Amino acid sequence: MLNPVVHAIDQQLTEALLPLHVEDMTRQYWEQGQFLALEHLMPTQLVQEFMQEVERVRPQINRNFIPGHKKGGSVSFYLLQKSAPAILAFYHHQGWMNLLSQIAGVPLLLCPEEDPHSCALYFYTEPGDHIGYHYDTSYYKGERFTVLLGLRDQSSSRLVCRLHTKEPDREVKELSLRTEAGTYIFFNGDKLHHAVTPLGAAEERIVLTLQYVTNPSMGMAQRWFSNMKDAVGYFGWSALFRKPNR
Ligand SMILES: [Fe+2]
Repeated sequence: MLNPVVHAIDQQLTEALLPLHVEDMTRQYWEQGQFLALEHLMPTQLVQEFMQEVERVRPQINRNFIPGHKKGGSVSFYLLQKSAPAILAFYHHQGWMNLLSQIAGVPLLLCPEEDPHSCALYFYTEPGDHIGYHYDTSYYKGERFTVLLGLRDQSSSRLVCRLHTKEPDREVKELSLRTEAGTYIFFNGDKLHHAVTPLGAAEERIVLTLQYVTNPSMGMAQRWFSNMKDAVGYFGWSALFRKPNR
């Protein structure tokens, strides 16, 4: 039985799906090399609910810095699991997962609970916060898909994307996007080359990220590499040793 707050969020999330045109979204996704960005897709009321939880976990941000590659703050799945029921309800929402599965043309599953990235917040709050060009590489045996939901963007930062880098017969297309509150982005992590440009002074940008996979198993070597990357680049060493709540 869902608690009443989560139940209300769940209903709002279901209603938010009603006006969406799955066929249009699917066409756009494939035309853009498995990438889709829709401005202000998520209703303001839901974004506000999520932001209340963001403010609750903000004191627990883990700041990270990899010279030449990234600088910023993160809050992992483990913390959200304890303190952010509305955000978790979004990650787990079957209707939204079905939508993504339809668009991607393959059934999508939640990441294992051991993955601190599965549902996480990225905070760009200090001047120069950024991330360099990368793919959201899958260390899983299946493919990995990323959702980004803009929660706040009072910044000059841009999500810059290079589409079609792995399609030899297509010209690379560059995009530069704001991720304002409610903007919803979905892509295949191994296909989209992307970065976030540096934050200016007195600016702030907060993004929720969700990860889905087609096969949640992972080889031991891949698990080790993935853990190291997360500890150094995102959530700190404590996240490595923190067992998720069951
Ligand atoms: Fe990324």
